[in-house]
Amino acid sequence: MSVPAPVLERLQGVLGPAGLITEGPDLEPFAIDWRRLFPGVPACVARPATTEQVAAIVRACHEAGIPIVPQGGNTGLAGGAVPDASGRQVVLSLTRMAAIREVDPVGMTIEAEAGCILKVAQDAALRENRVLPISLAAEGSATIGGVVAANAGGVNVLRYGMTRSLVLGLEVVLPDGTVVNGLRRLRKDNAGYDWKQLFIGSEGTLGIVTAAVLRLLPRPQHSVTALMSVPDPNAALRLLELSQNELGDTISAFELISRTSLQLVEKHAGLKPPIGEGEWFVLIEAASSLSGMREAAETVLGTALENELALDGVVAESGSQAAQLWALREHVTESEAREGKSVKHDVSVPLSAAPQFLDEAGTALAAGAPGTRVNAFGHLGDGNIHYNVLVGAEHDATSVNRIVHDVVARFGGSISAEHGIGQYRVGELARYRSKAEMDLAARLKRTLDPEGLLNPGKVLASSTGSSGRSSAPDHNE
Ligand code: FAD
Ligand code: MLT
Ligand code: ZN
Repeated sequence: MSVPAPVLERLQGVLGPAGLITEGPDLEPFAIDWRRLFPGVPACVARPATTEQVAAIVRACHEAGIPIVPQGGNTGLAGGAVPDASGRQVVLSLTRMAAIREVDPVGMTIEAEAGCILKVAQDAALRENRVLPISLAAEGSATIGGVVAANAGGVNVLRYGMTRSLVLGLEVVLPDGTVVNGLRRLRKDNAGYDWKQLFIGSEGTLGIVTAAVLRLLPRPQHSVTALMSVPDPNAALRLLELSQNELGDTISAFELISRTSLQLVEKHAGLKPPIGEGEWFVLIEAASSLSGMREAAETVLGTALENELALDGVVAESGSQAAQLWALREHVTESEAREGKSVKHDVSVPLSAAPQFLDEAGTALAAGAPGTRVNAFGHLGDGNIHYNVLVGAEHDATSVNRIVHDVVARFGGSISAEHGIGQYRVGELARYRSKAEMDLAARLKRTLDPEGLLNPGKVLASSTGSSGRSSAPDHNE
């Protein structure tokens, strides 16, 4: 613990005894990421309960030159929310700021504090017959602040867009402790720069999100969920087109799941798919205020079987059967973690190139990293594949990354579709983005955080915003 005593006293004065953890086992949950890849050593954990307390902590740390790592639910998959091993970084946990300040069913907005759990916000919206359509398997622990800071994706992006498209207003604390309140609920607001966009997806490197206003949508009265097995990813894409023709813009999710993923789920979570053979599966959800969803989904399945786009399929007959189908998808990440070491790739490619990407990445891995197994699944409707590679002790994570990311680059894709860069992909970002883009990012960082005290080493290699183009990628197993 290396916060000088006078600074510690100042933090204690701001937060009181409930708001500061300085030693012991209570520090542990804040010290290591969900995947347990990046163990760190927090100088202490500050747990403010108000925006004013956040500002006071940030100001105190700024004056003393102490780095801060913002943390929400700590479910991030890129190591962005944990401190390094220096023992010098203060973790700023937002979880005590968990209030829902208002749900407005007419204006269709929700205002929540940063530490509010995503599921709690979703449920609050549902009680008003509205939906907050950000949905991910970690929604029971991820926070609104973390979701905004990560610009989280999830399973509903196809219809509702990433988190960014749902954020109407933000309140942030800048790296020097200045509070900027932009908690407006306006659908239209072109008055000056739309500065909130800088903080959405910046992974806590430019400012601390203390509260957000998010857009809600009417709650659809009818929904349908279907699972189909398909002969190959090409057929999955044609099935997407067929589904769109039949179900239009009511499709909210179109998820690809490989047989390997389902085998892992069966092995580690004991869940079995209700349909038979096939190397690839597609989980489709559609929802609407109008009836006829089930009939439309059955037409899709019938036509897909007739045209050999699907080998087998089931349309859920009840809410609980739909939940069982979704459980297969939602348990993939946890089951993969139980299986052992994996090298994750959260990539996106232009949608029509997804089948060819899967093909070429498989060939490149078989040649460059024999003995690895691919656990591919994800948000096919968005061109976002979680191309996770199960590796053994003999495999080098950096070279596995390089093999997959080079294929992604050939297709003009992205090395992070939704999880972000964190510390996991810092070197990789510098490798695949142009010098001009990295320099622009560094200039933004220096403008807002010239001392490099906010989440140093995340997104950009150097805390003061150097682009890090020459650094090697982190070890990613
Ligand atoms: P944290 O993990 O605590 O932090 C994430 C980043 O945001 C860090 O860089 C942190 O410093 C920063 N941060 C946190 N709070 C703040 C704040 N208030 N102000 C400024 N910066 C802050 N992600 C997806 O996009 N799609 C998925 O489908 C998906 N599925 C997942 C499934 C599982 C099983 C798991 C474990 C994770 C999944 N994730 C997914 C990743 C993760 O849940 C999301 O990135 C989520 O948004 C993180 O929220 P959090 O509150 O846990 O943030
Ligand atoms: C998911 O979609 O389940 C997660 O984002 C993927 C992952 O674990 O790689
Ligand atoms: Zn995902």
